Amino acid sequence: MDYSQESMRLQKYLARAGVASRRACEAIILAGRVSVNGAVVTELGTKVVSERDTVEVDGKVVLLGDSQVILMLNKPKGYLTSMSDPFSRACVSDLIPTDRYPGIFPVGRLDCNTTGLLLFTTDGELGNKLLHPREHVDKTYHALVAGHVSSDALRQLESGVVLEDGITSPAKAEVIKKTKKNTWLSLTIHEGRKRQVRRMCDAVGFPVKELQRVSFGPLSLGDLKQGSYRELTAVECRELCGDK
Ligand code: URA
Repeated sequence: MDYSQESMRLQKYLARAGVASRRACEAIILAGRVSVNGAVVTELGTKVVSERDTVEVDGKVVLLGDSQVILMLNKPKGYLTSMSDPFSRACVSDLIPTDRYPGIFPVGRLDCNTTGLLLFTTDGELGNKLLHPREHVDKTYHALVAGHVSSDALRQLESGVVLEDGITSPAKAEVIKKTKKNTWLSLTIHEGRKRQVRRMCDAVGFPVKELQRVSFGPLSLGDLKQGSYRELTAVECRELCGDK
């Protein structure tokens, strides 16, 4: 998506550049901290064009990349969802060429031992939007659990499980494969609480042994190899961003 010539409201520009949420950017503008081409602007409706205008916050230039990049990574086990780690542990940033994508960051997180679809973007506003509970973005996980899952447990997973941070929203849960000792479940949730799938499965008596995220909104992992990443196509970006 090429935004370099798009005329957009100042608060949208700032939010997209990752300064803060759109609402917080409005407050920053009203506080007189933003200038456009050297002149302080406090008018929220002011339009700017990335290619033409120089936008500064507190005297520091805020750049909006010419094009917004969204990457999909198939995260392997053993990587922290972080761009750096003070203890030099393996991070997802080790798997993408960060110098080619300045300002890129992961959208949400997967646990260290969860594999699968993890998005990255340079667009702070998009990142916030995709994670906001109001947006109800469906995420589908495949979970290997010990034992054979009863239909009662499936119903509980679907209707809501009581966790220490409250009952979960309605979900979709189905068995996709059974082996002698284990079951592969497919679970689709739209919330994004910490370790949610593991905690939901624990709560119904089926601890997770393996967990993979296979889809995020309209996007699927497809045949992307573990440890590999790719840029989303223009069509995928449009599908993901909706009316944005
Ligand atoms: N739910 C979990 O329990 N772990 C993840 O990594 C993602 C969702």
